[in-house]
Amino acid sequence: MHIPYRSVALSLLILGFSAIVINRAQAGGGHFYAPSSEAVTQQECGSCHLVYAPSMLPASSWRRMMGDLANHFGEDASIDAAKAQIITDNLVAQAADNAGRNFSAKLMRGVSLTQAPLRITELPTWLNKHQKVPAWEWQHQDVKSKSNCTACHTQAAQGYYDE
Ligand code: HEC
Ligand code: HEC
Repeated sequence: MHIPYRSVALSLLILGFSAIVINRAQAGGGHFYAPSSEAVTQQECGSCHLVYAPSMLPASSWRRMMGDLANHFGEDASIDAAKAQIITDNLVAQAADNAGRNFSAKLMRGVSLTQAPLRITELPTWLNKHQKVPAWEWQHQDVKSKSNCTACHTQAAQGYYDE
């Protein structure tokens, strides 16, 4: 998706920090990862952070993560079994090695599909694409964590990472 110059200039005025990064991220060219459109997933996995695109991790990762929500990156994200099953089914069906493969070829390079990595932000392609992001940007009060995709990719919830 391309943003005309005028709206970039406008967001520079309004957004401050994100606009600095948006400008640079745009130069890198675009990529689309379909967001989950499943209602329970949206609700339960979007309360603390962006609903991460199912195609950004392989099915083994989602199974592993959904199997231990009580110990979710230092938080207790547990939910009832029925909801967890719906979410697992959705994430697995759309995973990088299932229906999501149309989006994920680049991101899965060098990733073992059976090792079940839990972080998108530790995948080799992700690290590679973010190499030039300087330390001060990660530490900026509007970012704070690599997992905070929307700080820099304002349309991440819609699946767009080209800004
Ligand atoms: C501090 C800002 C920042 C954060 C936070 C951030 N990114 Fe990025 N991202 C960038 C920049 C800048 C680029 C462009 C790098 C380039 O030009 O090659 C980029 C590139 C990308 C690309 C590659 C797009 C392409 O060109 O194919 C993807 C995919 C992506 N980011 C996903 C994510 C995800 C997922 C998260 C959260 C887990 C995230 N990013 C968090 C700044 C950020
Ligand atoms: C109670 C809050 C909470 C809920 C609910 C929650 N998460 Fe998280 N999640 C976190 C925290 C905290 C992190 C670590 C963020 C960081 O490192 O900055 C995280 C990280 C992640 C990451 C790794 C991001 C990365 O760094 O690549 C994924 C994937 C993820 N969550 C998926 C899910 C899914 C799927 C659900 C729904 C079942 C969910 N989360 C629900 C709090 C939550």
